[in-house]
Amino acid sequence: MCGIVGYLGYRQAAEVCMEGLLRLEYRGYDSFGIATVSPEITLFKETGKISAAKDSIHLNGTCGIGHTRWATHGVPSKTNAHPFTDCTGKLAVVHNGIIENYAQLKRELEERGHTFVSETDTEVIPHLIEEQYAGNLCEAVAKILPLLEGAYAILVITEDTQEIVAARKGSPLVLGIGDNEYIFASDGLPILDYTRRVIYLEDGDLADVTPAGYTIYHGAEVVERKTAVLEWDAADIRKGGFAHYMLKEMYEQPEVFSNTASSIAENPSLLCRLRDARSITIVACGTSANAATVFAYLMETVCGIPTRVVLASEFKYYPTPKNDVVIAVSQSGETADTIAALKIAKEKGAKTFCLTNVLGSSLTRTAETTFYTRAGPEVSVAATKSFTAQVAAFMEMVNIISGGKLTEDIAEIQRYLPEVLEYDVDAAVELVKDAATLLYVGRGLSYPIALEGALKMKEISYIHAEGYAAGELKHGPFALLSESTPVVAVCLSGITYPVMMSNLKEMKARCAPEIVLGNAGDLDAEEIADVFIPLPKVSEIAGSILASVVLQMLAYKTAVSLGTDVDMPRNLAKSVTVE
Ligand code: F6R
Repeated sequence: MCGIVGYLGYRQAAEVCMEGLLRLEYRGYDSFGIATVSPEITLFKETGKISAAKDSIHLNGTCGIGHTRWATHGVPSKTNAHPFTDCTGKLAVVHNGIIENYAQLKRELEERGHTFVSETDTEVIPHLIEEQYAGNLCEAVAKILPLLEGAYAILVITEDTQEIVAARKGSPLVLGIGDNEYIFASDGLPILDYTRRVIYLEDGDLADVTPAGYTIYHGAEVVERKTAVLEWDAADIRKGGFAHYMLKEMYEQPEVFSNTASSIAENPSLLCRLRDARSITIVACGTSANAATVFAYLMETVCGIPTRVVLASEFKYYPTPKNDVVIAVSQSGETADTIAALKIAKEKGAKTFCLTNVLGSSLTRTAETTFYTRAGPEVSVAATKSFTAQVAAFMEMVNIISGGKLTEDIAEIQRYLPEVLEYDVDAAVELVKDAATLLYVGRGLSYPIALEGALKMKEISYIHAEGYAAGELKHGPFALLSESTPVVAVCLSGITYPVMMSNLKEMKARCAPEIVLGNAGDLDAEEIADVFIPLPKVSEIAGSILASVVLQMLAYKTAVSLGTDVDMPRNLAKSVTVE
């Protein structure tokens, strides 16, 4: 979703902002803009991709702000792109988040003579500041913040000073502290090229940055915030010779799985708390919810601890059992639904944990205890290595709690991950790429893998794909089956095998072409399949996780063959910061 960058120092601010916005591109956007102080406020706004407009940006000045916009209020257009100015054009503002009471504020401002050019909620902010501004930008911003309802991370500049004033409530904002230069950004990625020293601003913080230094206020108080060190490497956010970030990130999975699994034992207190839990609830969205479902299955079947997954956006409508342990799972740590759910759980007295990939992200401020996945930055909108890292974390938790019952499965996954990444899925791509609808099916642990496979396919190839528990097909989805509705089935040796085979036969009887991910040497499954993808002969648990990587590759190669924008699929955002 929207991304913001601000720069104050000795370099050309527009260049730093543009490079920074390119680093935030992965979040998803439809238009962008930059403003610099040079010495008056100068603006550049455009729709579409930054790379296409790069050479047309000629803004001078060493103080500036930039923004990528993912439309919420008003269509994607130059007029609705940030930054926004006040009536005088002396102030410019970029904003990430949603101002919920903007309509009322806008009406009042219009009554007082302000004119608006856009349909956005953001535009009220510069007009409100204009009314308060009498030469001290920080004071003026502080005065208007109590009027804003909703979430925001904002950056404000004025032509009167070399200064950036920033405020945060509910939307992420990081301040990078370099040598005689400062960079604000929505996350650490735009900062990495300049410095690794950062401050994660807290909700309610107001930061005033000038060439003389920075001050952070919280209410009327000046506060000291701890500096943290960005762990990621600038090299991690380059494609490194791969055609897409998604492919690069998929190939990182063997390392990511091992790194994450081996780090889990570092937090024995959480593991004790989970072992003693009467019940566990996990809140998450999308791919993270699918990884959570893997955990729930393993926790219940291996450890016997009742575990449920509630979609974070639905959590507020459910009761939270007393003394429940609630774990929020989120790659970004910024998903608004997941943060809101964890806050509710905390208010209701649950013991709260989070599993995230991003150091210092908003979720880590809400949870009492944080576990990190060691996936490194994930740039592609489609989550791949973060899913595998979450699965690794969960498997290792279950392994430790159960006294080593998953040791073999974990070793098998580690052993075969590099191999399955090389599988040839071209015949399967041929079978699915022209379909209008695909059904993904599995049972037991393969059920969340089917859900995840279908999610990956639909988000990057735009082919409608649904994941089902194989037993559910007869309760409705069977009506969809025909020779033009391919089915992708995970059918592995183990407890689910006999019934899965029956299901494959039933679907075949309805003429559905079948892609079957089975165990190498399984002649029955191979015979029934139109395309058979042989997985190594491993446990059913290990095979299901390995199957998820093959399904990622199937989605990736299908999307490439259809020519979609693999890393930045239409309408999607990497970090979903609105509920
Ligand atoms: C799918 C995908 C999304 C995210 C979801 C939650 O590939 O990326 O479904 O998994 O938006 O995001 P996080 O994990 O950051 O909370």
